Amino acid sequence: MGKDVIIALDFGTGEEVFAFLDKFPAQKPFVKIGMELFYAQGPDIVRRVKARGHQVFLDLKLHDIPNTVRGGMASLSGLGADMCNLHAAGGRAMMEAALEGLSRPDGTRPLLLAVTQLTSTTPEMLRDELLIGTDMGETVARYAQNAKAAGLDGVVCSPLEAALVKEACGRGMLTVTPGVRFADGDAQDQVRVTTPAKAKEIGSDYIVVGRPITRAADPLAAWQRCMDEFVG
Ligand code: C5P
Repeated sequence: MGKDVIIALDFGTGEEVFAFLDKFPAQKPFVKIGMELFYAQGPDIVRRVKARGHQVFLDLKLHDIPNTVRGGMASLSGLGADMCNLHAAGGRAMMEAALEGLSRPDGTRPLLLAVTQLTSTTPEMLRDELLIGTDMGETVARYAQNAKAAGLDGVVCSPLEAALVKEACGRGMLTVTPGVRFADGDAQDQVRVTTPAKAKEIGSDYIVVGRPITRAADPLAAWQRCMDEFVG
């Protein structure tokens, strides 16, 4: 388990996904499949990407009663996913049930990460809509500690929160961080962005990179640049 770059496959069709992966003839980048692709294409898209030799982060952010999440995770684990996630807001019992569901008969399981607070949640929403009186940093740290207590492997968070999570949970708690842009690149709709080199310095274990690679004129070169900056 080392530092790696995860490419967000934010495409709507299998054709687009495989046309993109064809640009990596010899390399097998770690990829992320999210709701859009999974809901449109069904579980088979995971099997097909796995069959080409890629590691897959299934970013479906489960949040339901423990029994339902246990069953859902068992289904995802059976697809051969390497990394899955859920919302820490579902509570410790739900996170523990998720881990049970993920465990395969051969004793292996995908890594399990918790989303603490979505990066789209503002301090005002936390206070006025969710009625959470503690500040964002404290909430993120506590949710990460709950995830650790439940036995999870890490969290998905902003690179700017990675240091906070490591401080609250120890260096072994994995941090997977989106919001990465090249220093000379376009931020698009991401607001708080970090370069791959800076994410490495802050302590991210995995960076999730979408458009800077998927929309690059030369995706292979862009991925290689990320790997060079982040993994070194
Ligand atoms: O194209 P871009 O690099 O912005 O893609 C980032 C990926 O990470 C997208 O799939 C996005 O949904 C995901 N993500 C994010 N911010 C979060 C959680 C997930 O950008 N807080």
